Amino acid sequence: MNREIYLDYNASTPIAKEAVEAMQPFLTGHYGNPSSLHWAGIPAKDAVERARGQVSDLLGCDPTEVIFTSGGSEANNHAIKGVFFANRDRGDHIITTAVEHPATLNPCRFLEKLGAKVTVLPVDRFGRVDADDVRRAITPKTILITVMHANNEVGTIQPISEIGAIAREAGVLFHTDAAQSVGKISTDVDELGVDLLSVAGHKLYAPKGIGALYIREGTRIEPFIHGADHEGGRRAGTENVLLTVALGAACCIALRLIGMPQVQELRDLFWEMLKKRFGESLTLNGHPTERLPNTLNVNFVGRIGAEILGSMPGVAASTGSACHAGAVTLSPVLAAMGVPPVEGMGATRFSLGRTTTREELEEVVCLLDGVISGRRLA
Ligand SMILES: Cc1ncc(COP(=O)(O)O)c(C=O)c1O
Repeated sequence: MNREIYLDYNASTPIAKEAVEAMQPFLTGHYGNPSSLHWAGIPAKDAVERARGQVSDLLGCDPTEVIFTSGGSEANNHAIKGVFFANRDRGDHIITTAVEHPATLNPCRFLEKLGAKVTVLPVDRFGRVDADDVRRAITPKTILITVMHANNEVGTIQPISEIGAIAREAGVLFHTDAAQSVGKISTDVDELGVDLLSVAGHKLYAPKGIGALYIREGTRIEPFIHGADHEGGRRAGTENVLLTVALGAACCIALRLIGMPQVQELRDLFWEMLKKRFGESLTLNGHPTERLPNTLNVNFVGRIGAEILGSMPGVAASTGSACHAGAVTLSPVLAAMGVPPVEGMGATRFSLGRTTTREELEEVVCLLDGVISGRRLA
């Protein structure tokens, strides 16, 4: 195996040094329950509240509008089910898009069994939903619009502010799954015009199993876990102090690095190198400009992504197609974008991170060259 090169930062990230340091005192001491009023509880409570402030600084909201969750999936589930359960007297209609993560689409499917009507809007070939389609889909029964901020597979950024204005005008609650965008691009909740926003810690250099949900003050939403009065009565259970402080520290670092200009420069250089090497046999998935700065999803036309990656086991990246018993199926995202199967079966997602180097990318181009010109895979 060649040296290990990690280009799968949209799948997960390493834990930032600062997040590890923040956790240290809570691994070896400070074991008190944040709800306890005595000397052992106070440092834990203070740490959770400091972390809440750090998350809210990144989102541009009030700390009281942030609750901690077990990750992006829980945040999406809470937003979608919580709004549905709390607003049934107002309506039963939810609007979403065809390129959402399963953590959004499956809660919507689940609610359909309970009587929800769900409209799944199409996207264009770049993976973008048309804000006017959202406007047209709104009915007097619409209670929630849920559209992801940026797509995990292709990185396309949705016109969230535009949809936010439409939702506000119609008096409909608006949720965005920002699991992939928080820490990469600006996620100021007022600029985006959202009422609810999901955060997934492990996509922004915090550990796995921690996330957050922004809930705009005044939003009608059911608690996700019923029990004691934790998290303002919205999510019962003794706080995960250890992971919460790590998320706070990770948000603090992310705030300084928003926009990721160096990462974007490397990503664009990588694309240029690939185009030079593979020319016409390479196409881009996702929006050319309205795209996460770290994400490059390309099709090696006529090839199979999984086979390409299988031939270079040292490189960690993802594919957008699955191959079962000789048949190749495109991911629902690529299918919704109308990517032709002959192109999309070669889809490979490279997602760069803070420590990605030019040398690593040059090495990947060389490896790809060997794999692709060495033998026909398709
Ligand atoms: C867009 C998006 N939403 C939600 C999730 C789920 O987040 P978590 O793994 O923290 O549950 C992911 C993770 O892959 C994601 O990419």
